[in-house]
Amino acid sequence: MTPYTPTNEEENRWTFCESVAEYSNTTHRMAQQLSLFPTEPSYRTTKDSDIKVVELFAGVGGFRIGLERASRRFVTIWNNQWEPSTKKQDASIIYAKRFGAEGHSNEDIATVPTSAIPNCDLLCGGFPCQDYSVATTLRHSGGIEGKKGVLWWQIHRILREMGKDAPQFLMLENVDRLLVSPANQRGRDFAIILASLADLGYVVEWRIINAADYGMPQRRRRTYIVAYKQGNKIANAAGQSDRRKWLTENGTMAKAFPCQVKKETISEFKIEGDLSSVSADFNKGQKSSPFLNTGIMIGRNVCSIDTEPAYSGPMITLGQILIDEKDVPECFFIPEEDLPKWEYLKGHKSLKRVNKETGIEYNYSEGAMAFPDYLDRASRTIITGEGGTGPSRFKHVIKTPGGRYRRLVPLELERLNMFPDHHTAGVTDMRRAFLMGNALVTGIVERIALVLEKNI
Ligand SMILES: C[S@@+](CC[C@H](N)C(=O)[O-])C[C@H]1O[C@@H](n2cnc3c(N)ncnc32)[C@H](O)[C@@H]1O
Repeated sequence: MTPYTPTNEEENRWTFCESVAEYSNTTHRMAQQLSLFPTEPSYRTTKDSDIKVVELFAGVGGFRIGLERASRRFVTIWNNQWEPSTKKQDASIIYAKRFGAEGHSNEDIATVPTSAIPNCDLLCGGFPCQDYSVATTLRHSGGIEGKKGVLWWQIHRILREMGKDAPQFLMLENVDRLLVSPANQRGRDFAIILASLADLGYVVEWRIINAADYGMPQRRRRTYIVAYKQGNKIANAAGQSDRRKWLTENGTMAKAFPCQVKKETISEFKIEGDLSSVSADFNKGQKSSPFLNTGIMIGRNVCSIDTEPAYSGPMITLGQILIDEKDVPECFFIPEEDLPKWEYLKGHKSLKRVNKETGIEYNYSEGAMAFPDYLDRASRTIITGEGGTGPSRFKHVIKTPGGRYRRLVPLELERLNMFPDHHTAGVTDMRRAFLMGNALVTGIVERIALVLEKNI
């Protein structure tokens, strides 16, 4: 078995934390042993075999890192990143610094004409999800019709306008709640996405994946979507396969993330009507979404099941990605006098609160959080507000071997997302935390890409 050996050039560029690198190497080796993936990762490649990638909503390049780590065949030829909330374009600056300015676009995607985007084989992107973020409750979320959620229609526009040249493959990411939002019409947003992709001629597979369930260092649950243009090899194979078998054994997600059926329930239905009636009527009056955590849609026919992970490979813990206490700048340590505030915020609470609109009093309660965070398991989810010294319920706090309490440094946040060390260096610590709170766990993209690369 040839272990994964990066080239010099690659090594210089990708300096991953040891546990992350070892995880990735083992994944490649296990994949080879199981003959699920290529017998040899294809680092040597000819132009013809390149899989041309366009990365939208690129952030600091999470998709690109995962794809390139899976195989050198994935070549990102164009990418777009523009942050509407700030003048300084930190993510774009970092992206261009790490990967080069060629093919990088820092404009509002809504203003980019489709003719400016080159044809590609794979279009990927984590479309913005502020409306569903963990910081807001689903009940208050505007779903896909929310302020930023409408950016889905930019992906849709680009695919539609590309017409017959639209990419054969899509890889998309969003929050796990996408499958059940909005609260007053469960599953409507996902139904709109699926129906519009079906109308554009795509077969779509999805799975909610928690990175930690597959040994990665962060508990981060996200919806991953892969789609294949009808008529291509993978779409045909999906069409010919028993649906359940595809979802648990033969499909891209099943191979990348082995799983087993959790409940025998199968949710099978057709998404009927044009997009505006899907939007108005889908699942109206029902309490729960018909979309389970694993599924496939072919020609608007949905088959969805509940699966659970079947994984026994290597695991990375929070403790394994930490840097030495002596290298941590003093500002990350929590002053003794602030500890009670942190303890209070992290603790169990049961409070009387008054609804500002109705004036009605209600009981608010929240459970205790781990304080300090456990080092012997994967970390909790990183959120965008992870940076800054202010006490918070959600920021990670660890206890050092020296007995002091501290927050995580940006490098550790990068490692929790399996990014190369120092990837976001050059902007403030607060921004680095924000960028990592927005990013994805690159190991997930890598595993999906290993399967796709074999089949494309
Ligand atoms: C969920 S994040 C994706 C992060 C990315 N996957 C990564 O690994 O860093 C969504 C990204 O879309 C960008 N964005 C938001 N609105 C945009 C717009 N109108 N045009 C282009 N990019 C936009 C945000 O700045 C953010 O970086």
